[in-house]
Amino acid sequence: MKKVWLYLLFFLSPLIPIAFYLLVAGPSLDSYSASIAFGVYTFVLVSNQFYFASMPNWLTKALGTKTVRSLHGSFPLLILALALLHALLKLSNGFILTDGQALLGVVAFFLFLIGTISALLLFAQTLLTQFPWFSTFRTRIYTITKLTYKKVRAMHNLMVVAGILALMHIMIASTSALAYNPWGASILVVWMLYTLLSYLNYRLAGRKGKGTK
Ligand code: HEM
Repeated sequence: MKKVWLYLLFFLSPLIPIAFYLLVAGPSLDSYSASIAFGVYTFVLVSNQFYFASMPNWLTKALGTKTVRSLHGSFPLLILALALLHALLKLSNGFILTDGQALLGVVAFFLFLIGTISALLLFAQTLLTQFPWFSTFRTRIYTITKLTYKKVRAMHNLMVVAGILALMHIMIASTSALAYNPWGASILVVWMLYTLLSYLNYRLAGRKGKGTK
């Protein structure tokens, strides 16, 4: 039962900042409101990724380490799909890609895309890793590129850069102006900063406790 509540929390909690963003934008059932809803939902899911990656004690106790890892591994495809929808809807509403704010979103999106594909190919334990041909393929990539598991894991930290770029992207969006949307914008900024700091703390504590990580 506890697990059901937690899953509801992961999927429904983004509705709170979405409600604030839509309230101030003047809610209506149109593609502009949908673009905002998808953007905010994606942003909360991205922040949650750092939280899952930091393996919080209470969560691993409630769901188990394996489930928390698999949640972290399962959300990226949803994140990419929602971010793409958000971007396409913004473009269909007259926003342009050459604007600096939108460009930050584009760069964050491509970093998430590259990070997700490289994790799938190089180190994530997924359905694909069950197949022997995939293990051979993975070993071949490691041999050709001279990459090591440690280097690949370290490269995955580029996701932190993507998270920071996404944070900058939302902070300079007109819809996040503090005077206009103090609650919605603050929830997003505070949650992203908190999850990034949790992840940093986990990495630093891990290094201290386990030598190499
Ligand atoms: C894929 C490329 C992306 C493009 C082209 C894009 C474009 C935009 C645009 C034009 C705005 C509105 C700016 C304004 O009103 O001043 C916006 C806002 C926003 N974006 Fe993105 N974005 C992209 C990726 C992302 C990603 C990856 C996230 C989440 C991590 C995200 C989350 C948001 C949020 C939360 C807002 C504020 C709410 C809103 O106005 O929709 N965006 N984006």
